[in-house]
Amino acid sequence: MQASCPSGAILPRLPRHFLTGTELSGAQLDALLNRALEMKAQPRASRPLEGRSVALLFEKPSTRTRLSYEIGISELGGYPVLLRPDEMQLSRGESVRDTALVLSRHVDAIGVRTGPDALLAELAAEGSIPVFNMLTALHHPSQALADLLTLREAFPDRPLAELKLAYVGDGNNVARSLCLLGGIAGLDVAVASPPGYALEPEAGGARTTDPFEAVAGAHAVYADVWVSMGDEATADARRAALAPYRIDDALLDGAAPGAIALHCLPAHPGEEITAEVLYGSRQRIWDQAENRRHAQKALLEFLLAG
Ligand code: CP
Repeated sequence: MQASCPSGAILPRLPRHFLTGTELSGAQLDALLNRALEMKAQPRASRPLEGRSVALLFEKPSTRTRLSYEIGISELGGYPVLLRPDEMQLSRGESVRDTALVLSRHVDAIGVRTGPDALLAELAAEGSIPVFNMLTALHHPSQALADLLTLREAFPDRPLAELKLAYVGDGNNVARSLCLLGGIAGLDVAVASPPGYALEPEAGGARTTDPFEAVAGAHAVYADVWVSMGDEATADARRAALAPYRIDDALLDGAAPGAIALHCLPAHPGEEITAEVLYGSRQRIWDQAENRRHAQKALLEFLLAG
């Protein structure tokens, strides 16, 4: 990518990244969500990635993220390249720097699902193409985009700045990204977690240990799994501590009238959410899963063609 400066010299243009989601301004996020709604209404109306390739590096399992990015890239006219670390020289000691330099010569963007956020940062620093986060230990901004899009859809007559979302459960990467991107959108976010599982206050939004306090006045009540990837060793302690934070009809009754239930999935019915809510009429969870594709298509257009 290149741009000209006032003297007429050609300068390299820095690629746009999406590492935590905080790279977006409020206006950019608003425009991106509007574009996602357009794309959802007409999924094959434009092909801004025609002739372009996007590498998707998955170091962890995925259903929704892989499907939504891979199919979304195809719908945009692009070519998704699935990469598994055990099939790459990364697994044999090739450096992240060299990997970034080579990928930058072959593809137009890199999506990464991994543990360490530092890997994303290093790929972004060493490569010359956009890098986007498909889940790390600390962040899941791709998920948060779809969550905000789902709120937009569910409450079309109210701006996000007039809505409240309550997240109940572990103060994890999903909660953090909801607070960070919700904050950019002006959304009121409250997080209820047991002692020892609280999200740091710097992520924004309110904190409480009381799930009923968090959901008071909320238009959406959000759950995530109690035992995330990598937390298996502490599964029993987590289930015990998080048991009062299950989304059921009684908790939804404590929210605003017409409140919806959200969940990033995969779900464990009977743990963090009851089967009645997960498959019932008060949820928008399956719309939320579909919205991953529409929101990410708008993101890719912004990163690559904006
Ligand atoms: N919500 C989410 O990221 O789902 P996957 O782990 O299936 O990609």
